[in-house]
Amino acid sequence: MDTPTAHPGPPPRVLITGATGYIGRRLKDKLLAEGHCTIRLLVRNRSKVRPEVVGRVEIVEGDTFHPAALDAALAGVDTAYYLIHSMGAGKEYDRLDRESATNFRDAAIRQGVKRIVYLGGLGEKETASKHLASRIETGELLSAKPESIQTLWFRAGVIIGSGSASFEIIHHLVQKLPLMLTPRWVTTKTQPIAVDDVLAYLAAALTLPSHANLIIDIGGARTTFREMLLRAAKVMGLRRLILPVPVLSPRLSSYWLMLLTPVPHAIAAALVEGLKSETVAQDDHARRFFPQIRPVSYEDAVQLALAEIEQNQVVSRWCDSSAGAACDIGGEDDISRAILRDRRVLPLGDLPAAAVYAAATAIGGDQGWFTYDFLWRLRGLIDKAVGGYGLNRGRRDPRELRVGDALDFWKVADLKPGKRLLLAAQMRLPGKAWLEFDIQEHQFVQTAHFYPQGLWGRLYWFAMLPFHTLVFRDLATHIVGRARQLQAQVPAQPKETAFP
Ligand SMILES: NC(=O)c1ccc[n+]([C@@H]2O[C@H](COP(=O)([O-])OP(=O)(O)OC[C@H]3O[C@@H](n4cnc5c(N)ncnc54)[C@H](OP(=O)(O)O)[C@@H]3O)[C@@H](O)[C@H]2O)c1
Repeated sequence: MDTPTAHPGPPPRVLITGATGYIGRRLKDKLLAEGHCTIRLLVRNRSKVRPEVVGRVEIVEGDTFHPAALDAALAGVDTAYYLIHSMGAGKEYDRLDRESATNFRDAAIRQGVKRIVYLGGLGEKETASKHLASRIETGELLSAKPESIQTLWFRAGVIIGSGSASFEIIHHLVQKLPLMLTPRWVTTKTQPIAVDDVLAYLAAALTLPSHANLIIDIGGARTTFREMLLRAAKVMGLRRLILPVPVLSPRLSSYWLMLLTPVPHAIAAALVEGLKSETVAQDDHARRFFPQIRPVSYEDAVQLALAEIEQNQVVSRWCDSSAGAACDIGGEDDISRAILRDRRVLPLGDLPAAAVYAAATAIGGDQGWFTYDFLWRLRGLIDKAVGGYGLNRGRRDPRELRVGDALDFWKVADLKPGKRLLLAAQMRLPGKAWLEFDIQEHQFVQTAHFYPQGLWGRLYWFAMLPFHTLVFRDLATHIVGRARQLQAQVPAQPKETAFP
């Protein structure tokens, strides 16, 4: 097989779409590390690209619904990765998926791109859920003009990796439930695959010598969701009991998953729907065209995911993409719309900004929300009950944040190291809310901003005032307190450089 370095001339230029999502973010890191190609990203919000990556890639800001942005992104590109879906955009996501794929293919042809690489879902059209059907239609549209452009269409089922929705579901169920009553769909055959193996296929697609359209089903050994739970428990050193019950409908199971795990109902329902029918490979193309890739065992995939979590090395999560809520497009950091505010100002004296920033950016997740953590948790439970994210999402990393990260029921909308953190609320609210931490010279300003929707919004804000007074005052005080503790732990270091 060709290797990228075997070609004379400039390195190939590759476009990665979905580079702020679960797969795309990891693929971008992998291709950057391999260093065989020039990488361009098409992103909807460039501030979601980490500063250390910005200088190493070309960035085009835009989306697949704007042909001009697509033309700019695809000009001079040899291979274009299509790692996009519109599932978070509401009920009409299938129409948007169609439009997006058609626009992308046509722009790629206009710009003379040689190859599209797409990752879709494993499964058959006849038994497909609405989500999978849309993924299949996307693949068909991308592949529809083989005379003008080649499409390599990979199809994967359950992906096991730190931060993947399926793995977080398995991890939480196994951790929380010694005894699981499971519905029938847990015995359907499926072929999970480690995220690193998915990335290996996607990266190897760059140099595949074939010029024809191909569908490549990828996956590890066949198993069932039931087995996946039991085998993950074993890897985690836990003994778990599974009792199948015939009465748990898919709808009930998805509500159950939503309550016990970090994923919202839409994702739980898509997973359950997906597992109602077999999702197994229909061809041997993976082995034929990529014999060098041997998918790791399910146990190894779980082990790798757990190791990444333990070492705080979770590169991406299922909630990185904005799902139509905060941060997918500009404007989510526009707090000027707010008309109601809770503002706390605390003096910092000579406390360095870096220490306060480190304390502010470490809130939430496993660390909790200080004295009134139980009130935050109660709010999270109410949010879950009305279909929101609740607090279960936690955070990707206990200390590091980047724009687009989920933080309990917030989303990071802006970050200015040493200066500012802006969180946009993703909880169910009659309005729009933000929580801003601004480190000014000698003072710390924490502001909860609220843009109420009609009368209900205003009533909500005023009903919450007593709680806000407690929790926000406590939050600001504890952030400054923790900053002092952090600063005290590093007395020998220069103040401004102690917290990078
Ligand atoms: N993750 C899995 O477990 C899994 C399993 C099997 C197959 N797949 C397939 O892998 C592909 C990628 O999935 P994923 O899980 O990585 O998705 P994801 O985490 O939800 O990320 C989606 C990405 O697409 C971007 N995006 C959405 N609409 C866009 C548009 N119109 N124009 C430009 N960018 C847009 C999002 O940008 P923002 O950051 O701005 O929102 C985000 O970067 C999908 O085709 C999916 O079916 C995934």
